[in-house]
Amino acid sequence: MNSHVINVKTRGPILFGGVTAGEGLKKALSMSRSEIISEVRASGLKGRGGAGFPTGVKWNLAAAALGKRKFVVCNADEGEPGTFKDRVLLSEYADLVFEGMTIAGLAIGARQGIVYLRGEYRYLLAPLEANLARRREEGLLGSAILGRQGFDFDVEIRLGSGAYVCGEETALIESLEGHRGEPRNRPPFPVDTGYLGQPTIVNNVETLALAASVLAKGAEWFKAIGTDKSTGSKLFSVSGDCQSPGVYEFPMGITIAQLLKVVGGEEAKAVQVGGASGHCVPAKQFERTLAFEDIPTGGSIIVFGPGRDMLKVARNFMEFFVEESCGQCTPCRYGNVALLEGVEMLEKGRCSMTHLNELKALGETMQISSKCGLGQSSSNAFLSIVTHFENEILGRPVPA
Ligand SMILES: Cc1cc2nc3c(=O)[nH]c(=O)nc-3n(C[C@H](O)[C@H](O)[C@H](O)COP(=O)(O)O)c2cc1C
Ligand code: SF4
Repeated sequence: MNSHVINVKTRGPILFGGVTAGEGLKKALSMSRSEIISEVRASGLKGRGGAGFPTGVKWNLAAAALGKRKFVVCNADEGEPGTFKDRVLLSEYADLVFEGMTIAGLAIGARQGIVYLRGEYRYLLAPLEANLARRREEGLLGSAILGRQGFDFDVEIRLGSGAYVCGEETALIESLEGHRGEPRNRPPFPVDTGYLGQPTIVNNVETLALAASVLAKGAEWFKAIGTDKSTGSKLFSVSGDCQSPGVYEFPMGITIAQLLKVVGGEEAKAVQVGGASGHCVPAKQFERTLAFEDIPTGGSIIVFGPGRDMLKVARNFMEFFVEESCGQCTPCRYGNVALLEGVEMLEKGRCSMTHLNELKALGETMQISSKCGLGQSSSNAFLSIVTHFENEILGRPVPA
């Protein structure tokens, strides 16, 4: 697929459906800061960047934090393999994203927003800049927004340079400050000590667009979609062995089987949920739901048909992590290389059961001892593939 093609397949109820840009900001301007935050909290909205942190709680922490300046950062790094839904929002619904940033600025008391745009999305820079210029002319950005004295907010766009780890919020902030993009120790968290040491919220593109929708239509409307613990809808980037790859909006809580039916992937033997750092779910678990309480995901769905070699899949992901580990901490720097070597041994039929068990233990150690989310999740795919596809993997003929 050409990277500029917008391939939206299902326009669901929220982002691609019933919300008109502008409604949310007008509503927010009639509310106090704490009312805005309460509305977002009441909606149950959780971050769509993968970790699922409650958005209203994050905004509240930043609003309460002390700082000379505060910042709203839109995480548009979208580096997870198999994810391409933020690109669609930025291409077709940028007003909703900028509106979400502006509402967040109003809620936490920030005057500046920054979009951290994935380097490969450079082609979006000019249209996004044009959109910002129009918003300034219309009084939606700049000083005294829509006539509200004392509410000044503007947005600038900065380009990333293609490092996956820079999507991690503290590495992103380091990169924004002009440093090497390496994750920081946490705490302190960005809501207290973020960009330039000031209180900062980092939110995913989709989260910000949804926050604008929540303000426009109200928390109750949002909560009526999805499940009790995972409210609203979710964008999914679907790729792999299915008839209709593309971007879909579904209510939270849809089962994998339901999703596969819509995308024409019923024959799948496995689905990778959450990209390279996510879990490989075998067919026998396709009744599980895509929701924070079951299988959480930033939205990447990669379908593997019956003919796929799962060891090749594991190799592909481990090569990615060996390349993308920033190397700061040992479990991740060493562990990803050891798991890749393990895949190579399995390919040659030379990995004993004892060694495979050692590799599994290593993967689990990486999950608990790595410094950031990259190393904490990079063994997920390996572990789920060797667990669910043990027969396929161990039963390989030894190459001559
Ligand atoms: C290695 C790594 C890469 C990440 N990449 C992204 C990304 O591209 N976009 C994103 O929104 N969040 C990404 N995250 C999650 C962010 O650290 C952070 O949790 C998120 O931006 C918070 O926004 P949310 O609360 O709206 O989800 C990444 C995390 C890790 C560990
Ligand atoms: S877990 Fe990996 S990416 Fe994260 S700090 Fe450690 S080495 Fe760097």
